[in-house]
Amino acid sequence: MAQMNFEPFRIKMVEPIGITTPEERERLLKESGYNVFLIPAEKITIDLLTDSGTGAMSQEQWSAMMRGDESYAGARSYYRLKDTVQRITGMPLFVPTHQGRAAENVFFSAMGLTKGHIVPANQHFDTTRANVEVRGAEAVDLVIDEGLDPHSHHPFKGNIDLEKLERLIEEVGAERIPLVVLTITNNSGGGQPVSLENIRQTKVLLSRYGIPLVLDAARYAENSYFVKLRDPSAKGMSVAEIARATFDQADAFLMSAKKDAIVNIGGLIGLRDENLFQKVSTELILREGFITYGGLAGRDLDALAVGLEEGLDERYLEYRIGQTAYLFQRLKDAGIPLVEPPGGHAVFIDAKALLPHIPQREFPAQSLMVELYRAGGIRGVEIGSVMFGKVDPVTGEEHWPEMELARLAIPRRVYTQSHMDYVAEVCAEIAKRAGELRGYEITYQAPALRHFTARFRPL
Ligand code: F0G
Repeated sequence: MAQMNFEPFRIKMVEPIGITTPEERERLLKESGYNVFLIPAEKITIDLLTDSGTGAMSQEQWSAMMRGDESYAGARSYYRLKDTVQRITGMPLFVPTHQGRAAENVFFSAMGLTKGHIVPANQHFDTTRANVEVRGAEAVDLVIDEGLDPHSHHPFKGNIDLEKLERLIEEVGAERIPLVVLTITNNSGGGQPVSLENIRQTKVLLSRYGIPLVLDAARYAENSYFVKLRDPSAKGMSVAEIARATFDQADAFLMSAKKDAIVNIGGLIGLRDENLFQKVSTELILREGFITYGGLAGRDLDALAVGLEEGLDERYLEYRIGQTAYLFQRLKDAGIPLVEPPGGHAVFIDAKALLPHIPQREFPAQSLMVELYRAGGIRGVEIGSVMFGKVDPVTGEEHWPEMELARLAIPRRVYTQSHMDYVAEVCAEIAKRAGELRGYEITYQAPALRHFTARFRPL
């Protein structure tokens, strides 16, 4: 019998894709200073810059938007979202925010995060780290060693190292650690999942010290699906049951709803503690909006309520994780070095291994990003020495990151298998002539987060 492993939807509304000539792409590269962030989206053929806010909403989400209640306080949309959030997560208290980093900002303020505090995580996403550090606190990553090895096939490379965590608590004292974050899935580490077992053990350890466990739950559904496939402690459970068991371990969660909840804008904070909820509410009203809309329109709340459910659908998740695995396999078959095994939302090319002739100071992953656009109009994101490299302005000393990656993040329900085939063909063609690629030098950089606006010159 034929397998029904095709995209589980058909297309009712279409959007044109940017088709360009090689000459046009060469000109656009020059004009943008060889930085794909600065190329208009209209001139991109396949846009794999991010899976955040780039998903396609369903007919149910679009119809829900028409029911949006735009009342300032206590809108029907808010109560519909409340029902869904409570049913899926079991968290008694929640507020909406306009996106994930807003949830981080409001929550960390309410927690009174400050200098002297340490916030351990499996791995902080950049905005989480920045929101910790801007308050003078220290963000510490304690992912298991396998999580930093591109070749390890550990099934849960996003797990936190519990021994390291306990040692840190013993060393600095629980009073300096106001919370511990688990990022599910671990975006910075390649979209790798955290096991339900590891989440449970983290909670047991933290309970002994009275430290709250906070989930960065942007990709909670993808994480739950990996748990279903790989974690023996979740045998026989549905993805929705696993998601609920995951949230059951947490004292609070922060969520960018632009990922697994498949909306173009939105975020959430979920809580159990009444006292903390009061503080969060005060902060929210100051920064985002009233507690029943948190910086979103009523219609956004309705789309989010539907998206939270759809993101947990197992047929959808099989397709979603399958699409990432498909692109991964096509690239692997072409002999392209990758972070293994494939994560949930993206495929990560190991540019250091693909381009060993380009030293890190000449930005190998950046060179690959430029070539992807030049050869095929494809846009990914550099996660390497442009994003994380530093040159000390006083001593001239260079600091380069361990890994030099090119991330191809896949928007949800947007591209078909033939789009992925095209991406794989372009990558394979580049890999064959990888030796011809040259490095770049920076001609302009901003003092912080330079990757967004930096300009380059080919060497
Ligand atoms: N946490 C995680 C794990 C994320 O991946 C992101 C965003 C955020 C928090 C912040 O959420 O963008 O809604 O403010 N990740 C995007 C990405 C930007 O491309 O990986 P936000």
